[in-house]
This record gives sequence, C-alpha cells and structure tokens, in this order.
Amino acid sequence: MNPLKHVAIIMDGNGRWGLKYKNSRNAGHKAGLKTVEKIIKESIKQKIKYLTLYAFSTENWNRPKKEINFLFNLLENFLKDRIIDLHNKDIKLKIIGVKNFSTKLNKLLSSSEKKTSKNKKLHINLALNYGSKSELINAFKNLHKSKKKINEKNLSMYLQTNNIPDPDILIRTGNTKRLSNFLLWQIAYSEIFFEKKLWPEFNENDYLNIIKKFKQIKRNFGKI
Ligand code: IPE
Ligand code: IPE
Ligand code: MG
Repeated sequence: MNPLKHVAIIMDGNGRWGLKYKNSRNAGHKAGLKTVEKIIKESIKQKIKYLTLYAFSTENWNRPKKEINFLFNLLENFLKDRIIDLHNKDIKLKIIGVKNFSTKLNKLLSSSEKKTSKNKKLHINLALNYGSKSELINAFKNLHKSKKKINEKNLSMYLQTNNIPDPDILIRTGNTKRLSNFLLWQIAYSEIFFEKKLWPEFNENDYLNIIKKFKQIKRNFGKI
C-alpha cells in the first residue's frame, strides 16, 4: 500500500454549479467553501500531513471584478470566522502565490500564517494568486543569485513548497482534464485523478474512493 502524505486539489466547477442550481456563479463559490471544510476534516481523519488547495490562479484576475471581489470577501470572512478553530485543530496555514491583495487582506493572511506556523497535524497550502510558471521563474532567479549549483534539490528549495514532499495525489474536479498552471514541477510523479463532479458536489466518499484507488496503484518512478 502506498504511503500518502500530500494531496493537492484543483477545486474547479464552482461557477457552473452555482449557475445550474442557484442561477449565480458566486453562490457556487459559497457552496464550494463547504466542500473545503469537508475535505480538511477528512484529511485529518486520514492522517494526511499536507493538503494544497488551488483557490485563485494568476490567470483568474481576468475574471469580472465583481466575481473577484466576491471571492476575496468570502476568503476574508472565512479566515475571520474560522482561523481560531483551525488553529485549535493544530492546522498550519501557508499561502503559496504572491500576496499582493488589499493591505487589509495581506495583513489577515500574514497573521493567520503566523498564528498557525507551529501547528503540526495538517499543513494546508492555500494557493492564492498562484501560478506555477512564475513560481519557477522566481525560483530560478533566486537560485542563480545564491550561486548554488543548479540541480533539482536546490531548485526545489526555492519553490514555495520547499521542505514539503511533492504531492502523491493531484485531484481536479469539474470534469476538465488540464493543469491550469498548478504545481507543474511538483507533480512530476503525482497520481492524477480527474473527477467529473463539480467542486461543490464533491464529498468525503469521493475523496475516500480516490485515496483507496491511489493506495493500490503500482508507482514505478521509472523502475519496473
Ligand atoms: C474554481 O471554480 C474556483 C476558482 C477558480 C476560484 P470556477 O469558478 O472556475 O468554476 P467553473 O469552472 O467556472 O465552473
Ligand atoms: C483553475 O481553475 C484555478 C482554480 C481552481 C483556482 P480555472 O477554472 O481558473 O481553470 P481554467 O481557466 O478553466 O483552465
Ligand atoms: Mg473553472
């Protein structure tokens, strides 16, 4: 049985769910947050150590301003309401991506990271204004500056996922088979699961089924 340390998720399909059931994309984002809570809870139950959630890509700035504002308000309220509870559950929160939001949100994100930085049970990377290509360019620039040898290990140290193992599993919900600029380096050997369900309808059972399938896969890493 394969050990499972790190699950990464592209949480896609909120907008379509919202339009289908509530006539509003934003209602889908709100519903998607409930799935986030479920998956965090189940990850702890399954003793998974790292969970990386793609919440907003560098390309998502091309959406209508109204939707972007709604998303960041949702995030702000979620953190205000839930950070103490996450902290009490021994969850560490780290933002990956570039924190260039409003001063207020930047502060809230930094204080949430600081508050939970020593927690051990589950480490959540929340990918916000994240793009894998720009992460890689920055990593190469900083590695070059450091004058260290250019090799895989040293480059990994300059990625925002430094010091954590690469994802064992990558899940994308929403019936779309693409990576959308997410963790391109880190998923070199991840087992990839594309799910038909939209993110708000994805549940613990779907998650457990994926974990069960993953555990049975023969992972070769180039060997036979
Ligand atoms: C993913 O859901 C969440 C974000 C990108 C913030 P979408 O908003 O992309 O939902 P669809 O793909 O349009 O249904
Ligand atoms: C990927 O979803 C980003 C997040 C889930 C945050 P998108 O909906 O933005 O991806 P594309 O544009 O369909 O590839
Ligand atoms: Mg989408």
